[in-house]
Amino acid sequence: MEEVNEELALTTLPGVGPATKQKLNDAGIYTILDLATASPTDIAEAVDIDTSKAVELNNKARKKLVEMGKLEPDFISASDLLEKRKAIDRVSTGSRNLDDLLGGGIETWAMTEFYGEFGSGKSQICHTLCCTVQMPRGEGGLDGGAIYIDTEGTFRPERVAEIARARGLDAQEVLKRITVARAYNSAHQELIVKDMGRMIEPNGVKIVLLDSAVAHYRAEFLGRGTLAERQQRLNRFMHQLLRTAEVYNVAVVVTNQVQAAPDTFFGDPSRPTGGHVVAHTSTYRLYLRKSGRNRIARMVDSPYHPERDAVFVLNEKGVDDPTEESPRKRSSS
Ligand code: GTP
Ligand code: MG
Repeated sequence: MEEVNEELALTTLPGVGPATKQKLNDAGIYTILDLATASPTDIAEAVDIDTSKAVELNNKARKKLVEMGKLEPDFISASDLLEKRKAIDRVSTGSRNLDDLLGGGIETWAMTEFYGEFGSGKSQICHTLCCTVQMPRGEGGLDGGAIYIDTEGTFRPERVAEIARARGLDAQEVLKRITVARAYNSAHQELIVKDMGRMIEPNGVKIVLLDSAVAHYRAEFLGRGTLAERQQRLNRFMHQLLRTAEVYNVAVVVTNQVQAAPDTFFGDPSRPTGGHVVAHTSTYRLYLRKSGRNRIARMVDSPYHPERDAVFVLNEKGVDDPTEESPRKRSSS
């Protein structure tokens, strides 16, 4: 596994010799990008050094990336930031209504969360985005690949193929550009995300789909005694994911199920699981619900988006707009 881009090799950092490099590799850190996005706690654990040394290593990696122009410096003028933000791209969800709600589609350099009850369309949105991201620029896509992290075993290549064909794409070619990672437990899910950096650039990945973010944590950390530990692990994980979105300028989409029964961790059944951890890390959050054959999305907690509903449907194209002019519901403005 020596195919790492020379420029980004860990050993180009002063103080990183072959032994340290090996230890970092063992922890899934292969490049300076990985090192910059890893948390100092993880680095300290991997190399068996104290946290202050790990922070130093992490800072060195970030500084190098700033010099290379791959990361913005700690202090940046607002006008430079505006210039940098012009690199943000958008991926169509497949529904114009939903895209409008999102201000033009799913943003790169950000994390978008879809939460809702079972059957509300979270997984179907992810399946559709695997296809739409591959469409040419100007047609809703970014001519990019996708990484699909499947925690519930619900990814179906057959369904992706159907959606691709319905959208006039070559199904075989579309499937080739989707990298699937089946995460069997929360630790495995964390490892996959740590390891993901090296998949992004070589495969031209423009979107990372995590379906779902919290299911493993919910299942594994039962009982109130371990709730704090769960939230801490989840917090660290979500931040790593967000850093990935920022460093690689990719779109990150996570799904989150709403508890149907109000009897487990959180009292209010309309709150997503994972509570405020996922909510605080997500850049944009959309709440999905079923309404007959339609699905209704609402942007939650965003000062930049109108507080209104977008209606979409699920059909052979995956996510789509309703055909017969079902009224686009507007509640308050
Ligand atoms: P959970 O993962 O259980 O929380 O649900 P989810 O929000 O991921 O729901 P999902 O995206 O799996 O949506 C399920 C719904 O999508 C079904 O009720 C169907 O309405 C629709 N759907 C799923 N597969 C197909 C398909 O192949 N064709 C069509 N037309 N609709 C489908
Ligand atoms: Mg699902």
